[in-house]
Amino acid sequence: MNLVLFGPPGAGKGTQAKRLEEAHGITQLSTGEMLRAEVAEGTPVGQRADALMKSGRLVPDDVIVEIVGDRLSREAGRNGFILDGFPRTVPQAEALDRLLASKRLKLDHVVSIEVDDEAMVERITGRFTCANCGAGYHDTFQRPEVEGVCDACGGTEFTRRSDDNEVTVRERLAAYHAETEPVLRHYEAQGLVRKVDGMAGIDEVTRQLEAVIG
Ligand code: AP5
Repeated sequence: MNLVLFGPPGAGKGTQAKRLEEAHGITQLSTGEMLRAEVAEGTPVGQRADALMKSGRLVPDDVIVEIVGDRLSREAGRNGFILDGFPRTVPQAEALDRLLASKRLKLDHVVSIEVDDEAMVERITGRFTCANCGAGYHDTFQRPEVEGVCDACGGTEFTRRSDDNEVTVRERLAAYHAETEPVLRHYEAQGLVRKVDGMAGIDEVTRQLEAVIG
């Protein structure tokens, strides 16, 4: 099963990709996480991406396509993958078509998580993750069961992303509408798009996703 999870910042792509990964052993491939790792390691790619990410703009297509191409090569023959945050422009989608064809892989579904912009600002500014294992939480919608302790690993340190402030979120939403939304039409033309209601609760969105992938 090879999926694209599609939606604006805060739609729940990462939250749902991690759940599908755990339930089905499908690998989550998040370009945002890959870039944050490059930034943390101070690689040339990370140095190029850092300022763009902090300002909410997209990283150039050639940089992203190279990173994803490397990762996809390792996924052939495994349980499948969930692309989270990629493709984000029509040229990225066209490059992905070529990459998949060259590796004899194909997409099964492109799942669009449908949400309202305004709710995304609240979701993103309230998001935090466990510094030890990366489990995701929210100040209002997904608190740890025991205050200050990660449900998954018992860690007690949490972090917030530097681009999760209101000004940058609005830039990211603008970039989404200008550059990423047209990607949906690319996949509609291929008959691959399925929609789920991303304004529903986290468990209900998972249920709808499970229904799509069967
Ligand atoms: P990336 O890391 O991909 O960020 P994003 O697309 O902005 O998506 P988010 O991670 O913010 O949101 P999400 O949909 O995963 O939401 P989540 O599940 O965490 O990209 C970051 C940057 O990297 C970009 O701005 C760009 O610069 C660069 N980049 C990355 N890929 C690129 C590419 N392909 N090309 C060019 N540049 C690229 O949920 C958010 C919060 O809401 C959480 O706290 C969660 O608990 C909560 N929540 C989730 N679902 C629900 C729900 N149903 N109800 C209530 N709360 C919910």
